[in-house]
Amino acid sequence: MTRDKTDLDVLKRGTQELIMVLLWQSGTAIIVWLDGSVHSFLFRKAIMQIKNNVFIVTGGASGLGEGTARLLAQHGGKVVIADMQDEKGQAIAAELGGVFVHCDVANEDNAAAVVAKAQSLGKLSGLVNCAGIATAERTVGKTGPHLLAGFQRTININLVGSFNMIRLAAQAMSTNEPEATGERGVLISTASVAAYDGQIGQAAYSASKGGIVGMTLPIARDLSKLGIRNMTIAPGIFGTPMMFSMPKEVQEALAAGVPFPSRLGTPMDYAKLVMHILDNDMLNGEVIRLDGAIRLPPK
Ligand SMILES: NC(=O)c1ccc[n+]([C@@H]2O[C@H](COP(=O)([O-])OP(=O)(O)OC[C@H]3O[C@@H](n4cnc5c(N)ncnc54)[C@H](O)[C@@H]3O)[C@@H](O)[C@H]2O)c1
Repeated sequence: MTRDKTDLDVLKRGTQELIMVLLWQSGTAIIVWLDGSVHSFLFRKAIMQIKNNVFIVTGGASGLGEGTARLLAQHGGKVVIADMQDEKGQAIAAELGGVFVHCDVANEDNAAAVVAKAQSLGKLSGLVNCAGIATAERTVGKTGPHLLAGFQRTININLVGSFNMIRLAAQAMSTNEPEATGERGVLISTASVAAYDGQIGQAAYSASKGGIVGMTLPIARDLSKLGIRNMTIAPGIFGTPMMFSMPKEVQEALAAGVPFPSRLGTPMDYAKLVMHILDNDMLNGEVIRLDGAIRLPPK
């Protein structure tokens, strides 16, 4: 086989000269030309296998997590939905052929039970942290200072809960046989654009999401030797039950503030990015804003 030309030169040759292209599942393409020359190159490095592998989705009973669980299941993944909403979570898991585990992500035993369940189903390849709460309270409001318990609760669920799931899922993934690329698993958490441009009343929420942004790189570095990637998505304004609980005018005003496309994001927009992160193994230790270019004003 000749390797004297670059892959680009090879691809530029006319199709009239082409006899056949053979594609291997390993990601190798072999091109045979009319003049008898043969070229081979890798057309992809790695695609994480979704089919039959196991994925934990926290907050999978609603919104972004539900959309992610649905898309993973459509691609043949075994989904473990970890959520506090038992009825909804069980119904979605049953529909998707997955499993529901009641879980408060901030609870050590609950999180360990989710990971153990996932491992009992096969190879735990991914964790998608979508569980979270949205809270709003001013640092000093009409009734006095921000309640400390409210601040602590938001940090505990959104930040500590995400890390709790990450540490246990990563431990389980570290026992996986690595893929040909050395990869053992992928962790994806959900921050928010409020990590960067938090609005009035979002001190606790922004701090919890800023914590997720801040730990993205060090976790990726910690886990690099184990072949486990860690990524974060920072959504803008998405149409989910969390958002639909707001008055319609507020929702419309928020959607109008998105430069392009001027609409609320959908769970499918989010889920498609999850799939891309799983698929693209150069993505690691980074936060991706998924926001239609919105930058939130103070209120
Ligand atoms: N919707 C948006 O506009 C938006 C924007 C930016 C970030 N986010 C973030 O995306 C994530 C998903 O939000 P969503 O809009 O899908 O909300 P959602 O309310 O539709 O879903 C959140 C899910 O998390 C679950 N949950 C809450 N606390 C939990 C806990 N302690 N343990 C386990 N599960 C728990 C809820 O039961 C619910 O099913 C959240 O972290 C949220 O902060 C949402």
